[in-house]
Amino acid sequence: MCGIVGYTGAKNCIPVLIEGLKMLEYRGYDSAGVSFLDGKCIRTVKAKGKLSNLEERLEASKLGEMHCGIGHTRWATHGAPSDINSHPHSTEMVSLVHNGIVENHAEIEAFLRQKGYTFVSDTDTERASKLIDMLYKETKDPVATLFRASAAIRGSYAFGVIFSDFPGKIFAIRKDSPLIIAKDASGSFLASDIPAILPYTKEYCRLDEHYVAELSRTDIKIYDENANVSEPKYEVALWNSEQAKKGGFPHFMLKEIYEEPSALESTIERRISNGLPSFDETFPDNILLESIDEIHVVACGTAMHAGLVGKYIIEKLARIPVNVEIASEFHYRDPILKKNSLAIFISQSGETADTLAALRHAKSEGVPTLAIVNVFGSSLAREADYVLYTMAGPEISVASTKAYSVQCAILYLFAAHLALIKQKITSEAARSLCEKLRSELPRAVAATLALNDTIHQISTKISSAEHLFYIGRGIDYQLSIESSLKLKEISYIHSEAYAAGELKHGTISLITDGIPVICIMTDSSLAKKTISGIHEVAARGAHVILICSADIQDEHALPDVETVILPRTEPLLYPFLTATATQLIAYHTSADKGIDVDKPRNLAKSVTVE
Ligand code: AGP
Repeated sequence: MCGIVGYTGAKNCIPVLIEGLKMLEYRGYDSAGVSFLDGKCIRTVKAKGKLSNLEERLEASKLGEMHCGIGHTRWATHGAPSDINSHPHSTEMVSLVHNGIVENHAEIEAFLRQKGYTFVSDTDTERASKLIDMLYKETKDPVATLFRASAAIRGSYAFGVIFSDFPGKIFAIRKDSPLIIAKDASGSFLASDIPAILPYTKEYCRLDEHYVAELSRTDIKIYDENANVSEPKYEVALWNSEQAKKGGFPHFMLKEIYEEPSALESTIERRISNGLPSFDETFPDNILLESIDEIHVVACGTAMHAGLVGKYIIEKLARIPVNVEIASEFHYRDPILKKNSLAIFISQSGETADTLAALRHAKSEGVPTLAIVNVFGSSLAREADYVLYTMAGPEISVASTKAYSVQCAILYLFAAHLALIKQKITSEAARSLCEKLRSELPRAVAATLALNDTIHQISTKISSAEHLFYIGRGIDYQLSIESSLKLKEISYIHSEAYAAGELKHGTISLITDGIPVICIMTDSSLAKKTISGIHEVAARGAHVILICSADIQDEHALPDVETVILPRTEPLLYPFLTATATQLIAYHTSADKGIDVDKPRNLAKSVTVE
């Protein structure tokens, strides 16, 4: 997810573009750049890293007033963050900013190389910019060029384009990625999202898919997919700029929980081809995977808890022992790493110092290392032997939510792939799991989000608690561990996760009258045992709350127990629904207590110190 802006009008466009990019930094922030028309000459300034690096370069360029330009803040999907990979991508006649993914970038590159084009970056966007350059040279018409480019490009895109032959004009087209246009008395604006235009106007028009917009200082023309002029349909923004950055949600955390269906879709879609798990070239080959007879999963916090789910599914499908370990323990205990082992490191940020140190330790022992990370080109991604990217988009809130869900999804796909190679499952079984992940999982998570109000009711019952237990058996115990962390880190309630079968061996002494015990029960095979655990704690005065699957509710309804019934889905997918539900419990508990949900005390989004 990236942020694009454009402005043409009476104001100096440089500060307008920079301010617009600042309002869109939540969409991605690993590099940024601007292009503008200086007469009929396209000039481009861009920089890796924070927006302030770009500002410094612009300052040093000692530019005069410019009045037409485009800007971009990047969330890398192709090509690590760097000056050369940052946008805009320009030729002498064309400059382009892009939010989205050009899936057929390799075909486009091959076609353009035959036409004599060369390439300097690793990005799909550069391929798109040179395709537009080539098409423009044929048509000499920016609108026709964008229609033809749209027909040739597969994937998602919001393009902002300037042409040296058309000073004062910006052109745009989109498919799947958002794009809005607006105008005030001074000129016209283009942006990925509302926050960028709010300082100037609350009126905006969402560009329709495959429509082309032509912005000039005095007006905005829209052409429909048949190139007929179409009237812009304006709406009025209801949010202030702070709210708008959060898409109207009160906090980034809630926004990111609601992004889980689309984050899962993006992550899973990219990792399935011909119905089977498919991993790109930076992934262990089948020979290596066939030789693996032990896996170490090493991470911190929520990422480590995703590893616990990974252990469950890898051992279930591939029958390979998986050891899950906290990174800060792993590399200090001189772990026993067998010859045929694989070490997997999970991290949203890819910059967690403890996880990086553990990776370096594993590498020093000659163990092949695979990183599962969300930030493209992050340290972990660059130092591991192999990397799998999750496609959750930027995760701003300190509490990790959508990143956890997509980490679990990637581990499910990895488990199916490994099990297939180890011949522990058939390709039909692998296809079936992939299809459930691809089509059923986002739907089921969205159905869980629809329970938000019911779940909020539950959180009102626990927000005054000082202590709380999460319990479960099997995979439900692994989810209890993550649910407990989520609650305590943002609501400050002391919460513990316990294996339901273990309570009677000591901890049950802590169960006093009214203490909340949230029991997670989605594994039908363990329901009877879990229910006896519920009776044990209820008999000692606990306030039991049950999160259970629809399947179990059918057979083992507990009428006296407050219950959140998770939507019916494939049994293997319940962990994802449980995660969404308990994330919402944590969120509402924290928000109702007036805590700064996105920035809880003492915590940082990425812990880059050991
Ligand atoms: C998640 O809710 C926590 N804020 C924290 O445990 C986090 O998961 C941990 O610090 C690891 O971060 P990483 O995924 O960026 O490596």
